[in-house]
Amino acid sequence: MAVTKKETQEKTAKKTTGATKKPATKTTATKKTTTKKTVAKKAPVVAVNKKHVLYVASEAFPFAGTGGLGEVIGSLPRSINNSADIEARIIIPLYQSLSAEDRAKLTFITHITVPVAWRNQYCGLFKYEHGGVTYYFIDNEYYFKRSGLYGYGDDGERFAFFSRAVLELMPYFDWRVDVLHAHDWQSALVPVYYKLYYMYKEGYENIKTVFTIHNIEYQGQFSPAILEDVFGISYKEYMSIEFNGCINLMKGAIDYSDYVSTVSPTYAEQIKTAEYAHGLEGILLKNEDKLRGILNGVDVDTYNPKTNKALFVNYDKNSLDKKDIGKEELQKMLGLPVNRDVPIIAMITRLASHKGIDIVRRAMNDILKNDVQFIVLGTGEIDHEEYFKYIQNIYDNKVRSIISFNKDLAHKIYAGADIFLMPSKSEPCGLSQMMACRYGTIPVVRKTGGLKDSIIDCENGDKGIGFVFDNYNSDEMLCAIERAIGLYRDYKAKWSGLVKRAITTDFSWNKSAGVYLDFYREILG
Ligand code: GLC
Repeated sequence: MAVTKKETQEKTAKKTTGATKKPATKTTATKKTTTKKTVAKKAPVVAVNKKHVLYVASEAFPFAGTGGLGEVIGSLPRSINNSADIEARIIIPLYQSLSAEDRAKLTFITHITVPVAWRNQYCGLFKYEHGGVTYYFIDNEYYFKRSGLYGYGDDGERFAFFSRAVLELMPYFDWRVDVLHAHDWQSALVPVYYKLYYMYKEGYENIKTVFTIHNIEYQGQFSPAILEDVFGISYKEYMSIEFNGCINLMKGAIDYSDYVSTVSPTYAEQIKTAEYAHGLEGILLKNEDKLRGILNGVDVDTYNPKTNKALFVNYDKNSLDKKDIGKEELQKMLGLPVNRDVPIIAMITRLASHKGIDIVRRAMNDILKNDVQFIVLGTGEIDHEEYFKYIQNIYDNKVRSIISFNKDLAHKIYAGADIFLMPSKSEPCGLSQMMACRYGTIPVVRKTGGLKDSIIDCENGDKGIGFVFDNYNSDEMLCAIERAIGLYRDYKAKWSGLVKRAITTDFSWNKSAGVYLDFYREILG
């Protein structure tokens, strides 16, 4: 009850001050002071009681991203900030890829030196308000002025610096952190360093730590030889982050964090088993009391067929006929035969085996025996890239393989396709199946992780929003694809109903942000 009352107060305060509508312009600094003052005057109790969650991650859209992690960090905090009692902020590295236009909007806060083992490194702190969320950027050109985000021999040191810098910079935020929420191995040292070196320091007391696993496959494993010199952790503490004879940063974070979460309820169960945990099942079983599975949402403002500027034609649930115009434009653009009656099957994915590429390859000739077109967009393992180029050469009037990372084209494909294939061997959550639904494109998915939690099979077309198969093999996948093709071809009315259900399913963050908020409230007592 008390929270509801506070919520109302804060909402009213925001409405009167226009705080939520404040544009992020160069004059933000002055405007912000005014806004803050007014809010404080109107709702002093709420302002004092607000709790603060700092999202620590290596990616956040729209400023830096390579995939799902960046999508989530770039959208979840915005929904968290709709609440009256919790505010989320984000901290990421300042990468070279940040555009000049965005750089011009950064506000410099301070610079300090950060210990990286026995060295001290320069560290700048910048701030940027965007879409109702404060982003902090950590600057060090030696570590981050490079092309791309990852893949360097010293990635361990780069993210050790980043994690240490987050903790060292906290006193300069002018914003007390109540929950440190770290994501994936790149920020896994945050809870470890906090418990080893900061929790008893003045100003750092009683901070709760949460660690989210977006994909357990990437654990941050390094040679024990660099424990002291790179990570600055004494050999006395080796056991804290040792696993199977290696430094394993994710293992350290799971053990050291107060709570651990992952991105779907099913994956939270799966990672307690050897089949999915990439070795860490024992660690998760030991920590299962603090493990939660919360399904991701997607940024429904960006993935909105009515407004997205990348689409050939905008449409919504009431103008689905226009989806076919976009389909024909896509066929034209890619040089495929233009025919709105031929179903387009699409994949937008990293070309990695666990995404199901091997069973797709096994079934490809059988899929293409049907009257379909097949579009794949993505980059990844060279062998898979070569395969898709080859298959396009063989089936030139049916297949298009675009080996690149192209967001603009991705939107056109999500919208122009009819069937979206996502046969992952494992999938912590998966966002593409939700993005496809947003555009009225029907997912064919394997029943695993977040795919299982988000897509219900349509059976004979009267319920559900997709086609789901159980076991990881090409025959079951082919059967699901052919069920989809059959419904598309022979039962137009049922297909339209399916498309309507998919496009109207709520994949926004509203529901999941609510679960996160309750989680934070519980953590904070
Ligand atoms: C990773 C996972 C994906 C998940 C995303 C965001 O990319 O592989 O399944 O949706 O993180 O949590």
